[in-house]
Amino acid sequence: MAAQFTAGTADVKDVARLAARGVTVGYGDRTVIDGLDVTIPPGVITTIIGPNGCGKSTLLRTLSRLLRPTGGTVVLDGEDIGRLRTRDVAKKLGLLPQAPVAPDGLTVADLVARGRHPHQSWLRQWSSDDADVVRRALAMTGVADLAERPVDSLSGGQRQRVWISMTLAQGTDLLLLDEPTTYLDLAHAIDVLDLVDDLHESGRTVVMVLHDLNLATRYSDHLVVMRAGAVLAQGHPRDVITAELLHEAFGLRARVVEDPVGDRPLIVPIGRAHVRPDA
Ligand SMILES: Nc1ncnc2c1ncn2[C@@H]1O[C@H](COP(=O)(O)OP(=O)(O)O)[C@@H](O)[C@H]1O
Ligand SMILES: [Mg+2]
Repeated sequence: MAAQFTAGTADVKDVARLAARGVTVGYGDRTVIDGLDVTIPPGVITTIIGPNGCGKSTLLRTLSRLLRPTGGTVVLDGEDIGRLRTRDVAKKLGLLPQAPVAPDGLTVADLVARGRHPHQSWLRQWSSDDADVVRRALAMTGVADLAERPVDSLSGGQRQRVWISMTLAQGTDLLLLDEPTTYLDLAHAIDVLDLVDDLHESGRTVVMVLHDLNLATRYSDHLVVMRAGAVLAQGHPRDVITAELLHEAFGLRARVVEDPVGDRPLIVPIGRAHVRPDA
């Protein structure tokens, strides 16, 4: 008998892998994000951009349940993330925090193996399946040759691949990466983003924070533009990136032109938004 699909049961709210609905969150008494709505579409790369301190990392931590909102909800695959067990969240999404630090002397293989923790318990110890997943994660990120090296002896680009490898070993198809290219030169940044694109091509949903606006535009299908804890715009880079928006979000004067090698807008900065007195 032919396989049958039961269509028509999914409504719009289930289309998003992950969403914030009216989320308010901060630290102590200080509210950083107030009533924010954001939708992460499935199977594409979503990139969050915005000025320093606007709340990008706070949003990513809230979407991965490291921070609990004081108002609103985060919805993961149709469920309120606040009601899920930590272990169940870890089996669905992996977060790579901004500037992670490995314990002194820890080897690449041991760090990546830590990605398997959510799958283990006193009943279910390390298995050959875990070893296979770790081996694949090392291979996919091109760091298998570095397995026995201490993480703190690696270059910035190698280290970033190792952290992504650990996040991959968690085995989730939803990855949240906070500034995976920070401190990398352009060639190494492109190398890491090509890897992120491979992960997307193999069916994963990726949410990342990037500082470089042109790389964000080039590598994402969905942009979320933040300023001062709020979302200014979200959508396809072609619809979102305009000179007006860049001015509003970053106080940047820029021209937006056609990218000569891609099908996305290219941002050419001119300078600060205010007119210099000697100009
Ligand atoms: N752990 C923390 N405790 C207190 N305040 C924090 C903490 N982390 C971030 N903040 C503050 O929250 C605001 C947003 O920070 P963050 O989300 O890290 O911004 P971004 O990632 O966009 O640079 C900033 O004002 C920052 O100082
Ligand atoms: Mg940040």
